[in-house]
Amino acid sequence: MSSVLTIRGGVPLTGRVSVRGAKNLVPKAMVAALLGNEPSILRNVPEIKDVEVVTSLLQLHGVTVVKDAVTGDLTLDPKAAKTASSAAIDAHAGDSRIPILLCGPLIHAIGEAFIPDLGGCKIGDRPIDYHLNVLRQFGAVVEKRPGGIHISAPKGLQGAKITLPYPSVGATEQVLLSATRAEGITELIGAATEPEIVDLIAVLQKMGAIINIQTDRTIRIEGVRELGGYNHKALSDRNEAASWASAALVTKGDIFVEGASQRDMMTFLNTYRKIGGGMDIQEDGIRFFHPGGKLNPLVLETDVHPGFMTDWQQPLVVALTQAEGVSIVHETVYENRFGFTEALIRMGANIQVHRECLGSIPCRFGQRNFLHSAVISGPAQLTGADIDVPDLRGGFSHLIAALAATGTSRVTGIDIINRGYERFTDKLAGLGADFDFTTDDASVSA
Ligand code: EPZ
Repeated sequence: MSSVLTIRGGVPLTGRVSVRGAKNLVPKAMVAALLGNEPSILRNVPEIKDVEVVTSLLQLHGVTVVKDAVTGDLTLDPKAAKTASSAAIDAHAGDSRIPILLCGPLIHAIGEAFIPDLGGCKIGDRPIDYHLNVLRQFGAVVEKRPGGIHISAPKGLQGAKITLPYPSVGATEQVLLSATRAEGITELIGAATEPEIVDLIAVLQKMGAIINIQTDRTIRIEGVRELGGYNHKALSDRNEAASWASAALVTKGDIFVEGASQRDMMTFLNTYRKIGGGMDIQEDGIRFFHPGGKLNPLVLETDVHPGFMTDWQQPLVVALTQAEGVSIVHETVYENRFGFTEALIRMGANIQVHRECLGSIPCRFGQRNFLHSAVISGPAQLTGADIDVPDLRGGFSHLIAALAATGTSRVTGIDIINRGYERFTDKLAGLGADFDFTTDDASVSA
């Protein structure tokens, strides 16, 4: 189904949106349910495509997933877990990166796994070498097969001492989901420590796992033979909250983001205040607003937690196009996360991307031909344009640029945005955006 958003810009977004469970936790917690010997309940689950993809993958493997019609809570029962045909799994190839995290739980449940070639946003090569090396260190046999990878472990998974070359979120999750029921102790050095990782550890602890987060990015897991179920409310999506905060700045609006958590957004809030954004931090959420006057340019570097999240960068770049002066953004997590600036430049933004590391954080991409630093001069008058969404966060950035631009923009490929932003067209309408949403078979005006 192809959809088009026709956006008439220049209207400040004002009002209230609610942000629910984090896209980068909820699918992982669903996979964790496979490790249990009884049903689990996951609450605060958003209606996003990544949840649908993992629901159907789990169902393919015999897990029953029942969604509460009112609350959206999921009840997951792994007792009938079974091997799925690789053809059936392959139908999900390219939809997301989550399937690689099924390896450990499937090996514990049924002794093997077939993982289709992965999808996910095109913001870099997105390799899985760390994941495969981790699985081999647990004793798994990894075989490349047409369309995907077959993983098995005839003797089960054994605890290991693992050092990650980079604090990869996915590879850390791979270790957690494999080690909790592996034989013996696993020590993970160089782990990611994002709030979503800590929330996944909380889920596993509720199931009976023994996981210690130690100092200097070391996590120690004592394998246990069995795990029970969990009943867990997912932490809220700080990336979606940051996206709406940037939208308030870009459109000179005022948005209360219900569910936004100060604790998980500390670095973002400091940056937001430095750029000149207004905020009012409450218990049930955060109000983000443009206080009037000028926005300040910034020198910004993305990093792993507790640094400035790479997922916050793209929407904030649109705000930097409106700041008075020159800003610099050094993207150190992904090598190719500035592709979205091409459309912004067509809309009138003044952005130059560079191969050099324009910052002090040690970076894997310097002198390797990756355009991973951006210089942004503002303020720039944005005018409407035709835009095809390149990735999830870049797509949201295009939406808010179109909402701030003078004139009309036609935005296509917006189904990508459904992967991570729950009911975003309803939310835009609720905030007063002026747009028409047409699909092949219907059209809706806001
Ligand atoms: C997760 O991706 C998130 N996705 C990303 O959010 C987020 O940007 C990223 O973590 C970093 O915080 C989900 O949780 C579904 P990584 P992940 O492994 O796990 C390299 C969004 O917009 N790497 O931490 O795939 C990799 O190429 C998305 O919500 C390897 O080289 O990220 C990257 O340069 C985008 N080999 C770096 O590590 C590997 O085997 C960080 O990747 C794995 C990763």
